[in-house]
Amino acid sequence: MKDATPAPQTIFLRDYEAPHHWVRDVALTFRLAPRTTRVISRITFVPNELNRGDLVLNGEELQLIAATVDGAIVNMEVDDTHLRIASADLPQKPFVFEAEVEISPETNTALEGLYMSNGMYCTQCEAEGFRKITYYPDRPDVMGVFTVRVESDLPVLLSNGNPVERGDGFAVWHDPWPKPAYLFALVAGELVNHPGRFTTASGRDVELNIWVRPGDEDKCAFGMEALRKSMKWDEDTYGREYDLDIFNIVAVDDFNMGAMENKGLNIFNSSCVLASKETSTDANFERIEGIIAHEYFHNWTGNRITCRDWFQLCLKEGLTVYRDQMFSGDMRSHAVKRIEEVLALRARQFREDNGPLAHPVRPESFVEINNFYTATVYEKGAEIIGMLRRLIGDEAYRKGCDLYFERHDGEAVTIEDWLKAFEDATGRDLSQFARWYSQAGTPRLKVSESFAEGRLTLTFAQSTPPTPGQPDKAPQVLPIAVGLIGPNGDEVVETRVLEMTEATQSFTFDGLGARPVASILRDFSAPVILEREMDAATRAFLLAHDTDPFQKWEMGRMLAKDTLVALILEDTPPARDYLDAIRAVLTDDSLDPAFRALVLGLPGEDDLAQTLFDAGVTPDPQKIHDARETLRGSLARHLSDALPTVFRQMETGAFVPDADGSGKRALRLSVLSLLTLLDAGKEAKALFSKADNMTEQAGALAALLAAGLGEEELAAFGQMWRHDRLVMDKWFALQVALAAPARAADVARDLSHHPDFTMKNPNRFRAVFGALPGNHAGFHHAGGAAYALLADQIIALDALNPQTAARMTGAFETWRRYDADRQAMIRAALERIRAKTGLSRDVTEMVTRILG
Ligand code: PHE
Ligand code: ZN
Repeated sequence: MKDATPAPQTIFLRDYEAPHHWVRDVALTFRLAPRTTRVISRITFVPNELNRGDLVLNGEELQLIAATVDGAIVNMEVDDTHLRIASADLPQKPFVFEAEVEISPETNTALEGLYMSNGMYCTQCEAEGFRKITYYPDRPDVMGVFTVRVESDLPVLLSNGNPVERGDGFAVWHDPWPKPAYLFALVAGELVNHPGRFTTASGRDVELNIWVRPGDEDKCAFGMEALRKSMKWDEDTYGREYDLDIFNIVAVDDFNMGAMENKGLNIFNSSCVLASKETSTDANFERIEGIIAHEYFHNWTGNRITCRDWFQLCLKEGLTVYRDQMFSGDMRSHAVKRIEEVLALRARQFREDNGPLAHPVRPESFVEINNFYTATVYEKGAEIIGMLRRLIGDEAYRKGCDLYFERHDGEAVTIEDWLKAFEDATGRDLSQFARWYSQAGTPRLKVSESFAEGRLTLTFAQSTPPTPGQPDKAPQVLPIAVGLIGPNGDEVVETRVLEMTEATQSFTFDGLGARPVASILRDFSAPVILEREMDAATRAFLLAHDTDPFQKWEMGRMLAKDTLVALILEDTPPARDYLDAIRAVLTDDSLDPAFRALVLGLPGEDDLAQTLFDAGVTPDPQKIHDARETLRGSLARHLSDALPTVFRQMETGAFVPDADGSGKRALRLSVLSLLTLLDAGKEAKALFSKADNMTEQAGALAALLAAGLGEEELAAFGQMWRHDRLVMDKWFALQVALAAPARAADVARDLSHHPDFTMKNPNRFRAVFGALPGNHAGFHHAGGAAYALLADQIIALDALNPQTAARMTGAFETWRRYDADRQAMIRAALERIRAKTGLSRDVTEMVTRILG
């Protein structure tokens, strides 16, 4: 008999200790069978002279058949999580450990380790999945050279590195680059490939493949192009070349995350690689391009140089997100991309940073590392890189990166190593800057202005609110990009980066004629909340004249927010000036359509709830929803003459998923969504039936559903696409996301009984139960039906897939914003989850942190 589940153990950064043994090389043989896969391992270990001790190997859910050291049976201790051999029983020189274990991929629903998806074998090892494959020091600082033999009758057998041998029922792969176990991958299945080639700058001819299930071949061309562009971009921009003879991407339907950067064998959630104009929206195309780049860029930032331990996760993720963002900006539009990034940062990272789940970009402790693949580690981590670059300049940034690559190639390193490369390259002291990695919370930046005798003085005060475990914060280094606009609308001072290091600090601009209007935090130069007193007229002035596209957009957004808040709190109808300002942007042909679409977009309900809460008001979700609908109606009526014109102007010819085409369609669809409020859905219905691409088809359907129309179209869409999983995910998600608040929980519950709903597919689960909290007024509808439903679903999913279940609990992280009734209902839901016997460590940690 085993004891009840032990209390989950907390792991601390400060406890890091080097391993007792390094790995030199690893030979693995896989005899694949759905429930009885044999894994035979032969590992050469080298004792760590600097830290001698027992051999400690991780291993979970493994059935040990046999194990030896240098061919001999030795004493070993084996429990549910480890295999341990005492130092006294080991040679004090390099030795060979061999083991044979049995595992069951078919029953692995957690999608971690080796599992099956639609008859195909695949692996997911980051962060700690390799221990479910065989006994191994499953930690990123242990790097080894892998040779893998896969035995199976399936036609396609893949692993990392280069192919070395192929025979009847087997294939052998060798990866010459030492890597940690989390980058191991294996795939076996009946797959077909979309081939490609790339020749690197130094002349290496690389074979490229995207492997998919038969039937999906026609959805690979876009991904292949994105891959080739990424390879070229990393050479041109960072001087980084690919380093193997082959690069494989595999599309998998059942996958917990977006994609995984395994060395030479990237594995993708099929939703993040398969693309066709009929089945994918412009947003899908953009995301696919970005994720393919992201995973490819990891080859240098993550694989060639990896993390010493999981606390350093942002070392690879923040940097790689930053790199994929710059790539996307280069491929499309930096202005538009930056606004999209800020929207996402505020919606996910600021939300996280302002609640019970707030944590530093480099956390100091965790129970389950899977719970720290967060917006903070990824997106705030990327913002830090952007600030560093802004502070030191482009040239110094490249110099620092070059030094980092040169110095640490083949190593597993820390944030300190990363920063040291920049200190050495620039001679700058980055110790205060390093606080960005250790302090959680979003800094508030207050600014006041004064003007006298041709001198403008900007005085800033920064403070960061307390976060769990961090009551007090020290001042951080803030790069504040500022430009000045003269009264006639001309820019009188171009963008200048003010470097703030103190809690309060003043900066002056001299020699000014008349008092200018300051444009502060251009390009969103630091991830802070700017608090600035500003009247509507000044905002409208900057909306009209600012040369910085981000600030221009920001002014429109703040006007919209103020308008909505006044509607919510005082029922004040939208001001004519605001409506006119929006009209001016909408009809300004000199502006990029994508930008105009972004200005037309209103702040989301969740964003408004946070805004009210920050202003000391308890948000009422229904009221927020109604106000937003009211404003949409006012905009539609006020712009009624312009809408049909812009709708026609933005018609695109043949579908091309580039910046230009997608920008026009984005504007066209935002216009359509307002038009639908005026014409009883006439245009939207027409577009829905004649659209030859998913962007417009789904966009038209969304416009109808948002206006309470579109029952027929919804049914037609479901009928038309019933054989396409990825499109059906949209069908599930749209109805939940756009259900009237009073109906949202019922719609989600009904869909969970739909024959095509399954908890085993994370995409499908998220389509319904990720969309539910996305429907803010629906999720928080009085009575709490949605809270209870989501809790039931999380409990049920936890038994199959703890990692995805844990992610879903984030829906409750904002609970303290709401009124006492809602708080009580959410608390009850969370406590019910926590009380479930056998609850995973993943969900237990999340719920405990959220309850605080
Ligand atoms: N490392 C992956 C990425 O950022 C994300 C991931 C984490 C995927 C854990 C699977 C599991 O690209
Ligand atoms: Zn990544």
